[in-house]
Amino acid sequence: MKPMEGALTLREDQILIVDDEEVIRTVLAKRLEKEGYSCTTAQNGKVALAHFYKNTFSLIISDIKMPEMDGVELLQKVKAVDPKMKMIMVTAYPEIDLAVNAMRLGAYDFIIKPADLDLIVISVKKALESKRLEEEIEAYHNRMEELVEERTARLQQAYRILKKSHIDSVKVLAEAIDAKDPYTRGHSDRVKRMSLAIAREMGFSEEKLENLEYGALLHDIGKIGIKDEVLRKQTPLSAEEYQYIREHPLIGVKILEGVEFFKDKIPMIRHHHEHYDGSGYPDGLAGEAIPSEARIISLPDAFDAMTSARPHRGIMPLQDVLAELERHKGKQFDPQILEIFQQKKIYKL
Ligand SMILES: [Fe+2]
Repeated sequence: MKPMEGALTLREDQILIVDDEEVIRTVLAKRLEKEGYSCTTAQNGKVALAHFYKNTFSLIISDIKMPEMDGVELLQKVKAVDPKMKMIMVTAYPEIDLAVNAMRLGAYDFIIKPADLDLIVISVKKALESKRLEEEIEAYHNRMEELVEERTARLQQAYRILKKSHIDSVKVLAEAIDAKDPYTRGHSDRVKRMSLAIAREMGFSEEKLENLEYGALLHDIGKIGIKDEVLRKQTPLSAEEYQYIREHPLIGVKILEGVEFFKDKIPMIRHHHEHYDGSGYPDGLAGEAIPSEARIISLPDAFDAMTSARPHRGIMPLQDVLAELERHKGKQFDPQILEIFQQKKIYKL
């Protein structure tokens, strides 16, 4: 035996030969075994199917006309279980239309009886080669899919880390803002938490929530530009000082406007001191003209300022603060947002 043929025997392809004529089964099996294949024989579709369920075959060669179960029925039953199984149909010339039908049903090839054994061997080799190629392509596709999944997961992980470090650096900035005024320690974080809780109740999308998180953390960034002696003043502010502090939303806009990432957060910073009735600053916007994010932020901002100790007064009791907010419903605050704040007890966060 030539070395190449010897190599083929290593694969030990199992072939199932199905024919009701014993002599055909025997001759075909003998020839294929000479080629290095292992063969199992069956006298009809039913017996063949029993073998197929029990063993693993690389290929089936089947007659079409047989008692009990014919080759076409066998083909359909095999394909239902293993759509990739290669089947070569062998048939007499008058039954050629049955063979054509079998091809439509997924047979790999058909050979006319009396069968030329060399022709069958060539067809077997082609069928097995095609099966191997299909398996290789499938394995390649599976590997590619795995690779894509792996890379996607790694990218998503990197994106999460990047996003987290970004928000963390903004948190540091927010803490720096809070540190300017010892009475507002943790203020930005509390405003952020309450603002997000309100926005969730209002059905904000994930993207809008993320924007709001940045806006709420940075709403007072303009205070960086306000002198400490005014911010930390222990006595009530003069009219000029009060006017000076009112510049912080516009200073905030100036700080952030050069950074592309913060462009869509700027309206929240600019308008967080607008009042619902138009009496706020810097633009005196009213009602829906105030961006919803700014209407949200202004409420926890005021609430947190009232519940924190200030230089010229102590901490107000919660009930008094809630009554004060109610008094400003529809004036300073959006009435619907205030209702969410009250009903969902957002202030308990
Ligand atoms: Fe502010």
